[in-house]
Amino acid sequence: MKLLEERIQKDGRVLNEDVLKVDSFLNHQIDPELMQAMGQEFARLFANEKIDKVLTVETSGIAPAVFAGLALHVPVVFARKNKSLTLPDNVWTADVYSFTKQTTNHIMIDKRFLTAGENVLIIDDFLANGQAVDGLLTIAQDADLHVVGAGIVIEKTFQKGRQLLDERGIHVESLARIKAFVNGQVEFL
Ligand code: G4P
Repeated sequence: MKLLEERIQKDGRVLNEDVLKVDSFLNHQIDPELMQAMGQEFARLFANEKIDKVLTVETSGIAPAVFAGLALHVPVVFARKNKSLTLPDNVWTADVYSFTKQTTNHIMIDKRFLTAGENVLIIDDFLANGQAVDGLLTIAQDADLHVVGAGIVIEKTFQKGRQLLDERGIHVESLARIKAFVNGQVEFL
């Protein structure tokens, strides 16, 4: 998606050999117009699928997921990372290891918000090692959902996530596919 690639070139900052900082428009300060355009693009990319619900993981997946849900006219459910006071015991769970942060998050979704047989689209901000999407796939499998695909805002093709999702037979669509960071510059596929 040209608009996103241009924004990454303009405002993204390469932190080291594999981390891109995009907090001025994507995951801290948010540009709602860009988000809306991305939501519409996800809806276009998955237009041939029947989608009942969008799934994501808090925190940074929520904004793109909400705009995808808006464009698709379906509800959005996000997996929580920490057990809140009001969350009942009746939850689907998965463990998600973050290679970037070297921590494990226990993610969970209340069983009331997932119904067996539903067609779900997974949305996330980054595809790096694929662990967050994989955790949602575990929940989807346990809840007997049909995953129509995964929509990713920024894919780092030099990490293992895409391969993992290909092996799982998941239809992945990424709005920006980064080939490499070279001398502090982003190169797209
Ligand atoms: P994975 O889910 O693809 O396996 O990713 P990984 O474990 O490598 O990354 C875990 C966290 O780091 C995720 O956020 C992911 O969005 C974020 N991340 C990965 N690569 C980058 C990057 O190049 N730049 C930035 N800014 N973030 C990156 P999270 O732990 O779920 O955090 P949050 O959603 O609560 O913010």
